[in-house]
Amino acid sequence: MAPLPGSPTGPWQGRRIAITGANGSLGRALIRALHRQGAQILALTSSAAGAGEPLVERDDAGAAIPLKQVNWRCGAEAELAAVLATVDVLVLNHGVNVLSARSAEATALSLEVNALSSWRLLELFAGLEPGRPASPAGGRAREVWVNTSEAEIQPALSPLYELSKRLLGQLLSLRALDLAGPGLRIRRLVLGPFRSALNPIGVMGADFVAREIVRQAGWNLGLVIVTPNPLTYVLMPVATLGRWLYFRLLTRLPADGS
Ligand SMILES: NC(=O)c1ccc[n+]([C@@H]2O[C@H](COP(=O)([O-])OP(=O)(O)OC[C@H]3O[C@@H](n4cnc5c(N)ncnc54)[C@H](OP(=O)(O)O)[C@@H]3O)[C@@H](O)[C@H]2O)c1
Repeated sequence: MAPLPGSPTGPWQGRRIAITGANGSLGRALIRALHRQGAQILALTSSAAGAGEPLVERDDAGAAIPLKQVNWRCGAEAELAAVLATVDVLVLNHGVNVLSARSAEATALSLEVNALSSWRLLELFAGLEPGRPASPAGGRAREVWVNTSEAEIQPALSPLYELSKRLLGQLLSLRALDLAGPGLRIRRLVLGPFRSALNPIGVMGADFVAREIVRQAGWNLGLVIVTPNPLTYVLMPVATLGRWLYFRLLTRLPADGS
């Protein structure tokens, strides 16, 4: 069916996009940016506010954006299987920054939220058989966007944040060797500092970052970088290429996949 005059026609038109950390600054900005492109949004949220009341996000005209909301928590990723089977694009965006903390609890929280839950959701989504026919934008691969952060390779003045984001980045490089393919496109989001609860002194705005992510993903880039730091544009491609080579040379997947 031809799109209505004035309606979006880009790559996200009609795609069903699920976003974790939907109640955070970037989550909300992504909801607005992707809705503008005609995507159908599934907001995955873990916050008490999200559990108690519906998450309301508004479009440029002030109208509530139609979205489906699902509550989840780290550690219970498997419960999302049925929901994720209906999704075309999964954006792994949730994260926590414990700043100067270094207790066992802070370490466990950082690893669990920033690295392990995203890794588990990546594996879960990659292993799912899509439960519904392809969306109207159909025929295209499902996608996972993983928000690792510039902290993968740069200091973020928060050691546990850096540790956990580096782990996520490395896990992504390792597992993408097997998970990425014609049926699943993986994009890595490498973002510099933007203002949010996690980083109140970020220099960029979440709306600018979200627009840039959507624009670069629309160009079909696998490595999406949004930062004012020019070094990241040089170092990040080198780091991902180096890891790809290293992991490819030193690891293998047995024939039975185990
Ligand atoms: N701000 C920056 O400078 C910056 C830079 C690079 C990358 N990033 C990354 O961008 C992503 C979004 O961050 P943001 O800056 O928008 O921060 P934010 O406003 O604090 O949003 C983060 C969201 O993550 C979810 N979350 C927090 N703790 C969680 C937990 N224990 N379990 C599950 N979900 C949890 C929450 O969303 P729900 O309540 O909806 O679950 C929270 O609102 C994060 O991955 C962050 O690391 C941020």
